[in-house]
Amino acid sequence: MLINAQLDYTEADFNAIASLVYNRVGISLHKNKKNLVYNRLIGRVRANKLSNFAQYIKMLGDNSHTEWEYFVNALTTNLTYFFREHYHFELLKAYVNEHFVHTTITEPVRIWCSACSTGEEAYSIAMTMVEVFGTSKPPVKILATDLNTHVLSIARKGHYTPDQLERVTEKQMHQFFITHKHNNTYEIKPEIKALVHFKRLNLMDRQWPMNSQFQAIFCRNVMIYFDKNTQRSLLNKFAHYLPAGSLLFLGHSENFPDHQNQFVLLRQTTYTRV
Ligand SMILES: C[S@@+](CC[C@H](N)C(=O)[O-])C[C@H]1O[C@@H](n2cnc3c(N)ncnc32)[C@H](O)[C@@H]1O
Repeated sequence: MLINAQLDYTEADFNAIASLVYNRVGISLHKNKKNLVYNRLIGRVRANKLSNFAQYIKMLGDNSHTEWEYFVNALTTNLTYFFREHYHFELLKAYVNEHFVHTTITEPVRIWCSACSTGEEAYSIAMTMVEVFGTSKPPVKILATDLNTHVLSIARKGHYTPDQLERVTEKQMHQFFITHKHNNTYEIKPEIKALVHFKRLNLMDRQWPMNSQFQAIFCRNVMIYFDKNTQRSLLNKFAHYLPAGSLLFLGHSENFPDHQNQFVLLRQTTYTRV
């Protein structure tokens, strides 16, 4: 009976959690998320055998506590699917076709999928690259990063259920997936997995570890969780990683903050670095 009892959770607790998560990972939690936060974290409070949220917050006062990983994992929203906002993949295809397919390139095309969740977006990019180059080994390197370690482990495995493949065509299904009949799942083929390197990265980290630039960055459906200042500084950081003429893809509901002169809108939330 005690297991299902409500645990003490005050306005002050919510504010403390909102401030912890904002400072560490940039996610800005509005007051109306109070219940959602309770539901997302209650399991963590119990897993740590604590009897209220105040104790949990105290525990997070230790910046290097292992609970931090579970805490941020619990508070991220990870919805994604294959070929989400499909026009971006068409634009990417046209861009790569125009600049890299018919010329001799000495370096692989580098693409960063910067909030990759469970992997569908990064693998959609990889499939697009195989299609545009017309080979299962295109000269492409895809870096796929996310903050959440749980979604990254799903992404690395690359196993999906039939309903997750709704937007994948029959042809792509045969070309890019292995069918596992015994449990009715589809696994990304090794040659597609080989194009993607998954790594944990917090977009809020003052410094990122990459030291080369990218021909395209995908940062879709994550900036909506950040406030304007955070969005602005993130875009400034992306600008350093994009040479002139390269592309930045944002999510459909993401407005570009004002005073941005490093990017111009190409079309449909796709920007060119100027
Ligand atoms: C809604 S999903 C979007 C997934 C994919 N980009 C798409 O558009 O389908 C948002 C992702 O952003 C990640 N995220 C949130 N804050 C982050 C941060 N500070 N650094 C890196 N990733 C973050 C979450 O873990 C989550 O997987």
